[in-house]
Amino acid sequence: MIKVKVPATTANMGPGFDSIGMALSMYNIVYAEEIKEGFDIVIQDGNTQIPTDEDNLIYKTVAYFYKNIGKPLPGIRLIQQDSIPHTRGLGSSAACIVAGLHIGNALSKSFFSKEELVQMAAQIEGHPDNTTPALLGGMTIGAMNDKDMKYVKVNVAENIHFAVMIPDFTLSTELARSVLPKEVPLKDAVFNASRAALLAASMITSDIDNLSLAMEDRLHQIYRAGLIPNMESIIERAKVYGAKGAFLSGAGPSLIAVVKNVVAFRKEMAAYLNTLSDVWQVQMLQADNEGAKVWINEELKY
Ligand code: HSE
Repeated sequence: MIKVKVPATTANMGPGFDSIGMALSMYNIVYAEEIKEGFDIVIQDGNTQIPTDEDNLIYKTVAYFYKNIGKPLPGIRLIQQDSIPHTRGLGSSAACIVAGLHIGNALSKSFFSKEELVQMAAQIEGHPDNTTPALLGGMTIGAMNDKDMKYVKVNVAENIHFAVMIPDFTLSTELARSVLPKEVPLKDAVFNASRAALLAASMITSDIDNLSLAMEDRLHQIYRAGLIPNMESIIERAKVYGAKGAFLSGAGPSLIAVVKNVVAFRKEMAAYLNTLSDVWQVQMLQADNEGAKVWINEELKY
């Protein structure tokens, strides 16, 4: 039996559109084993929206993996225990891709390295900002060209806490990308380049007082605000309640704030979220610096 545990991820972190991402302490667990033929997909969290047919993203990724290595796909049983909410900007698709690659790698005894899986996952998703931290943990800064992806992983300090505000409504990445402009003014590009660089450097040095400036963005958040009722007011409130920085998580709709005083922030933010017409919850998480883990017959492999 193979067991894979994959963290949630937040992408962009404000200015690092399609480049910067970070793993969070929230996890999906998948068990996989070979069966005689076909497939058997069991969803244990009762989420009826996850496909249990060939459209299941973990199954699709395992099938893709076998096709790429030129071996026939064996019969497979998958048991999914998902904690990462779907289509909320917390990397649930990337978690499925990462789980599928690890399962394909282990079942086929291919022994691709983590580094090779990082490259495959970035190619599958088309941008590396969720899959890379999901595989490696920490915060990653990545850049792709046609051939490969170069990245740096930064371990995130344990005393930095992330308040994750998650609404009960969903937003597809496809829709959230469709509202982005094809071109942006040079001043907005400069605005983001300076802040993305400051964000990377500040996370390396744990200079969290820089983050309120370093997490500002002009490439995607303003365009997506129309799809996420109260996005701007929640980010403003987060700052009023002492957040060091706040941003839209990935393509949204979840929002994240960097918080020092965890108890007071949670109380004040939860009270504010209760006044809104949509249902929002706030969860306090930390960065995960380890990334996905794989057990084969209960022995931790990596
Ligand atoms: N960087 C991506 C985006 C993350 O913002 O669209 C979501 O997949």
